[in-house]
Amino acid sequence: MGQYIIEGCNKLGGSVRVQGAKNSALPILAATVAVGRPCIIHNCPDLSDICSTVKILESLGCEVHRGNNMIAVDSSKLSKKKISDVLMREMRSSIIFLGALLSATGEAVMSAPGGCDIGLRPIDIHLMALRKLGVDICEKHGELRCRCRKLRGGKVVLPFPSVGATENIILASVKANGITTIINAAREPEIVDLAMFLNSCGARISGAGESTVVVEGVERLYSSQYAIMPDRIVAGTYMAAAAVTGSTIIIEEVISSHLVPVISVLEQAGCKIEASGSKLRITAPHKLKAFDRIRTMPYPGFPTDCQAIIMAVASVCDGITIISENIFENRFRHICELKRMGADIRVQERIAVVNGVDCLQGAFVRSTDLRAGAALVVAGLCAEGVTTVDKICYIDRGYDSLAENLSALGAVIKRKENI
Ligand code: UD1
Repeated sequence: MGQYIIEGCNKLGGSVRVQGAKNSALPILAATVAVGRPCIIHNCPDLSDICSTVKILESLGCEVHRGNNMIAVDSSKLSKKKISDVLMREMRSSIIFLGALLSATGEAVMSAPGGCDIGLRPIDIHLMALRKLGVDICEKHGELRCRCRKLRGGKVVLPFPSVGATENIILASVKANGITTIINAAREPEIVDLAMFLNSCGARISGAGESTVVVEGVERLYSSQYAIMPDRIVAGTYMAAAAVTGSTIIIEEVISSHLVPVISVLEQAGCKIEASGSKLRITAPHKLKAFDRIRTMPYPGFPTDCQAIIMAVASVCDGITIISENIFENRFRHICELKRMGADIRVQERIAVVNGVDCLQGAFVRSTDLRAGAALVVAGLCAEGVTTVDKICYIDRGYDSLAENLSALGAVIKRKENI
């Protein structure tokens, strides 16, 4: 398990290119199983979660070749319907293989998924929805055994717009008999990316990005090449890095419409943000101002994945910012680490009151999950002295070449492998 060693208080400058979106790449790679023909996916970031996904694909019998940000998957050789417990535990999105396998073979056997410890993360909505589509699910001895001769379309009403459940239903229904209508679907851009990939393979999915998604089952899908969209959370992280260091940087390969709530918060903090085409320039003031209360919400609300990162920004703003986490019940674990760096944050249940300080101080801190780790890196960039961010294996789940990219912008950050 490695560490990042960061010497803070260095100005950033220049430009950085944003990687492909992890949360699109993972379901799209799983979706290649449902396609059943060779597919080539471009702009795949180099992440440990992508390696875990490739391991699952190979364990199912798919042929996988990796090139420069490209992954070719031939799922016509699919020979297994079971994913081992060890592979399931590596990440949360392993659960998306459930819909993909059911679509491909009518059967799937797996245990509960793992992933970052940010809350209970149940899968009840996934299972309820699949049962509605006629899947017979038996949960015994920690294993899910799912079976269905031919999935049948139907109307599924989600009690909460779960991203993963929406993806699983789309995958399960893409080759089902008839039409599936998902009511209260998640509207995240990653859902749109998945639907666009599947439609490029011949699927008939409409309404992705809206709260009603309609999937008209097709007989078969075809080979396709597809490029993953840019990662909005990684873009938000580089924006936060510029904000806390009072810098001007250009972020390339951005879809700024995906970043509206993050841009709005950083503008309130005093940053000037200019978007033009796929580029975005952020110019931060010498001292940031506290911003209005932030409540994490499903898209298009403020993303929970940017909550920890924006809290690192709030820690050095002039004034008090209130941040409530409404999506995951255990997503405040970065707070005690930020406090080690001198942040003034009080917590009551799911609400954090952040009283900005003049400057954070470098300290030894530990990532507790992917975005918490990224927040500590952002904090380290503006802290006085040296910050050691431990357990960066969490950061490796979602950030491709983070230290290299920040170094190219002028940060002093080194990766140290442990020990
Ligand atoms: C996805 C993202 C994650 C992001 C989250 C919310 C991926 C790989 N991960 O996670 O980065 O933080 O969306 O934007 O795309 N829930 C249930 N029952 C269910 C499913 C979910 O109660 O069956 C609850 C969860 O516990 C959580 C909330 O719904 O409180 C949101 O979860 P969901 O939208 O499903 O997130 P993920 O798909 O796991």
